[in-house]
Amino acid sequence: MARVDLASIGQFVGQSVTFGGWLTRKRSSGKIQFLQIRDGMGFIQGVLVKAEVDEAVWEKAGQLTQESSFYVTGIVREEPRSSSGYELSVTGIEIIQIAKDYPITPKEHGVDFLMDHRHLWLRAPRQRAILRIRAEIISAIQSFFDERGFTLVDPPILTPSSCEGTTNLFHTKYFDEDAYLTQSGQLYMEAAAMALGKVYSFGPTFRAEKSKTRRHLIEFWMIEPEMAFVDHEENLNVQEQFIGYIVDRILSKCRAELSVLERDVAALERVKPPFPRITYDEALDLLKEIGMELPWGEDFGAPHETAIAEKFDRPVFITHYPASFKAFYMKPDPNRPEVVLCADMIAPEGYGEIIGGSQRIDDPELLAERFSEHELTEEAYGWYMDLRKYGTVPHSGFGLGLERVVAWICGLDHVRETIAFPRTLYRLYP
Ligand code: 4AD
Ligand code: MG
Repeated sequence: MARVDLASIGQFVGQSVTFGGWLTRKRSSGKIQFLQIRDGMGFIQGVLVKAEVDEAVWEKAGQLTQESSFYVTGIVREEPRSSSGYELSVTGIEIIQIAKDYPITPKEHGVDFLMDHRHLWLRAPRQRAILRIRAEIISAIQSFFDERGFTLVDPPILTPSSCEGTTNLFHTKYFDEDAYLTQSGQLYMEAAAMALGKVYSFGPTFRAEKSKTRRHLIEFWMIEPEMAFVDHEENLNVQEQFIGYIVDRILSKCRAELSVLERDVAALERVKPPFPRITYDEALDLLKEIGMELPWGEDFGAPHETAIAEKFDRPVFITHYPASFKAFYMKPDPNRPEVVLCADMIAPEGYGEIIGGSQRIDDPELLAERFSEHELTEEAYGWYMDLRKYGTVPHSGFGLGLERVVAWICGLDHVRETIAFPRTLYRLYP
């Protein structure tokens, strides 16, 4: 008999099917046993009535413990009262393994315990829902750019120099040379944009951030589009279309998962472009009004971002930050060179910065000045300077932090649940 999977069980009503699964829970009255069975793709309740099944099958069902693995055979029935809509009248069980003392029980566990058992915790409905949504977000990201003529390019992971400053680089040896795990593929994506016009990358990035917050991972995944002949304003337009597209996709494809997570979908339904845009200076005024005054030239912390986000019902762009604390490659505003043509997109509901982007410096002389201010050597960054020597053009791009977006869309307290095996400060296991 062909094996089926629970995602497509609705096609087999009235038929006998066999599939492999794990037991998540069991209830028994002595005359009837209810097995909650998971196969990874779906759930079903298996029912055995003692008077109606073989003695041997009844006994095997009795042996099953939480996370025991087995093949099960039974007749599929429609059952509107069950959460999956179906039920299985079990006629056969072939045990693969009886699991003893599964550590994650239905009782409450502390976060450290769960993180130590992350390899098993992934089997919980909530974790599975998050991973499904993450996968759907990735798929939406790829469709968005693929449908718009962008070419996917993979920048290197081992790099000889930094992109976002030297404070949080992961150092390693590259035979006799020093190397660093990439913080951002942007500089390479700029080279790729000069070859292919519109490009995007999607890959892991690494930051040895000593900050233990709910928003920081040491290893996270970033999407970095880069676009030739695109200015600051046009860059923001792409970003808001992009975020609107992702949220739309999740609302249409992941309702069941959002409901497992008890996500307030009304908050997501409001996420429609255009998104509000305020300058850094306007953000300072807004903060002052609510008693969170900051001197001009200082960067925002998480509490400032959250306070600003609370004023809006959808993501907000904060633009034109002071050049002093932003990256060396950002283009100064021609009307006001102390600020740069950049924007951070701040998610609603306190999820913080999900996108950082900017128009890049295209003038070789200005870039050379920045090189000397930031002590960037010709030896390490000469190739990047070449991009301004041979047909420089205005160009812009941005980086979206995947885990922050997953945390926001899923409504999670912490980014550690947004990726299967998070790398956080002091945690490398499992
Ligand atoms: O703002 P960042 O540092 O920008 C860049 O790296 C640019 N080179 C991107 C570009 O223009 N191509 O990082 C981009 C995004 C942030 O907005 C945030 O969402 C995420 O990456 N991010 C992190 N996510 C999780 N953990 C961390 N430690 C993160 N650091 C940044
Ligand atoms: Mg940033």
